[in-house]
Amino acid sequence: MDRRQVLKQSALAAAAFAFSRDAFSREVERIVTHRGFTGNIIKLSSNENPHGPSPAAKSAMIAAVGVSNRYPWEVTTQLREKLASMYGLTKEHIMIGAGSSELLGITSLMAALQKGNAVAPDPTFRLWMGAARKVGLPIKLVPLTGKKQTDLQRIKDAMDANTRMVYLCNPANPTGTIIPAAELETFIKDIAPKCIILLDEAYTEFCDEPSMVKWVNDYPNLVVAKTFSKIHGMAGARIGFAMAHPQTIKQLNDLQPWANAGAGAVALAGALASLDDKNFMSFCKAENQKARSVFYKALDKVGMPYIESHTSFVYFNSAPFGKDVQKLLESQQIVGARTFEEGTKWLRLSVGTVDEMKKVAEALSVA
Ligand SMILES: Cc1ncc(COP(=O)(O)O)c(C=O)c1O
Repeated sequence: MDRRQVLKQSALAAAAFAFSRDAFSREVERIVTHRGFTGNIIKLSSNENPHGPSPAAKSAMIAAVGVSNRYPWEVTTQLREKLASMYGLTKEHIMIGAGSSELLGITSLMAALQKGNAVAPDPTFRLWMGAARKVGLPIKLVPLTGKKQTDLQRIKDAMDANTRMVYLCNPANPTGTIIPAAELETFIKDIAPKCIILLDEAYTEFCDEPSMVKWVNDYPNLVVAKTFSKIHGMAGARIGFAMAHPQTIKQLNDLQPWANAGAGAVALAGALASLDDKNFMSFCKAENQKARSVFYKALDKVGMPYIESHTSFVYFNSAPFGKDVQKLLESQQIVGARTFEEGTKWLRLSVGTVDEMKKVAEALSVA
């Protein structure tokens, strides 16, 4: 092949690649679905980041497709080292999983093996609970305070000699509330000597509260779970991490079929690139605040009370509105308003883009 032929062929390859990338993004847009709704919908059900993944993460993930024939050991180590340096830890403090859900599951499995019970607020993020119960970990659910805050005192009161784990989500899902750092620190100091504290920090990056990871060396029972699904916009890539004392990470790793191997090469590459894309994270945080304000105004206008959120979703009481908000939004292809407290009209809606939240506002105001 002469030089001209080579150039022609690589130009064709580049065009085909650009075309497939384009077709790929169109395809991705097309297949957005939610419980029977599909296509041109506004999906506000699962607190996904409407902006992500970051451009840097997308490029890194596309490039990583080509090396997906190889096991990603080195990249896994690189990610653990990078996270360790960000949090002032060592890679032995870090465990990688296919989303933080996997790590919540494994931590509750570790608690179940100690034969006893767990305590968690109610409502909270429950995805890990079904499997935990099935492997023999009964879960005592503790109601929130009247202001929908996590009730640390009642959680303590619900604990007994057989309590092996307390799960806390901070900021909380579905309410968006936060336990002030000082209160949480006191709780950790008090409870971590007695049982595992599984602290789910999926949404910390949307607010200014500090992570509690600084306590993992003092309290081997503290496991902090984090995810790339939220501020990093990589929910579909399935990658998360847990941070704990190396002793604890080792015990958790022993419960994985293959230590740290839940996330694939593509997700790992995206995660590494996303951590470097600080501008993207600041952008997502700022846009989330703007879009949240648009939604707050809409709720104020129609008289629906809400909890000030520290996250990428809002918990609001649709009772005074007098109409079925879920159905009303769905009639406009806006899906995802969900109830977490049976018998009440409190709903959670994820915060989308500013434009999406303007459409929500419009749907509510013309009702
Ligand atoms: C509080 C909380 N923890 C964990 C998760 C699961 O995240 P992942 O996608 O990393 O499994 C979610 C997802 O919505 C969540 O809200």
